[in-house]
Amino acid sequence: MRDVKDHWFRQAKREGYRSRAAFKLTDIDDRKQILSTGDRVLDCGAAPGSWSQVAARRVGRRGSVVAVDLKAIDAEGLPENVTLHEADLREMELETLGGGVFDVVLSDMAPDTTGDPFGDHHRSIRLCNDLLDRVPAWLRPGGNLVMKVFEGEAYRDLLVRANGMFQKAKGFKPVASRSESVEMFVICKDFLPPDERQDGDAAESEEMIPVPPRPKPTPGWND
Ligand SMILES: C[S@@+](CC[C@H](N)C(=O)[O-])C[C@H]1O[C@@H](n2cnc3c(N)ncnc32)[C@H](O)[C@@H]1O
Repeated sequence: MRDVKDHWFRQAKREGYRSRAAFKLTDIDDRKQILSTGDRVLDCGAAPGSWSQVAARRVGRRGSVVAVDLKAIDAEGLPENVTLHEADLREMELETLGGGVFDVVLSDMAPDTTGDPFGDHHRSIRLCNDLLDRVPAWLRPGGNLVMKVFEGEAYRDLLVRANGMFQKAKGFKPVASRSESVEMFVICKDFLPPDERQDGDAAESEEMIPVPPRPKPTPGWND
């Protein structure tokens, strides 16, 4: 356990990333092809900024990253195509995030953990649902979303909801995520605006979508 931590921690230092979380996004993008050159990306829960570093590099100078966190993010050393906002994501409007819709929304947002796994899980689920509420206004049709969630009883319902909004939504555990951690990343590809969904209505469609099988926390389940 400690070795894994040390490995990713040292690797982050070596490569100039602000935290080991950089390798979660690197793995997600390498395996699931979320980011493309020129993309406009929203990074929710971005402090200290390693996902923004990875995303800025991958979208290149023609792309941009809008980073939002409750905590201040140090601008020094970040690429010029990263814009910072110290704010609660749930209080932001698209206009205050720079206007146009995003090609990709990333969320590594997590509530402060309290030691109560049930409460932490439900606070995490609420953050994810708050984000999904904003997707129709903030994400372009065909765009991608990655969001972290603490697994628990409401995880399957979240996957069902995401599957009703995207062509495909699936859980993924990146290599740099500690195996004992309850964190999971929901990878949502190809956002479907309501009129392109099969029944044309997101709320109703959720009941029609088959419940995905409960993932088992064993190596390889997430492929
Ligand atoms: C695991 S950290 C993110 C690490 C980051 N992805 C990185 O690579 O450096 C989770 C962050 O989510 C932020 N967060 C939680 N709720 C938020 C909210 N409602 N709005 C904005 N940020 C939030 C926390 O302040 C915290 O910094």
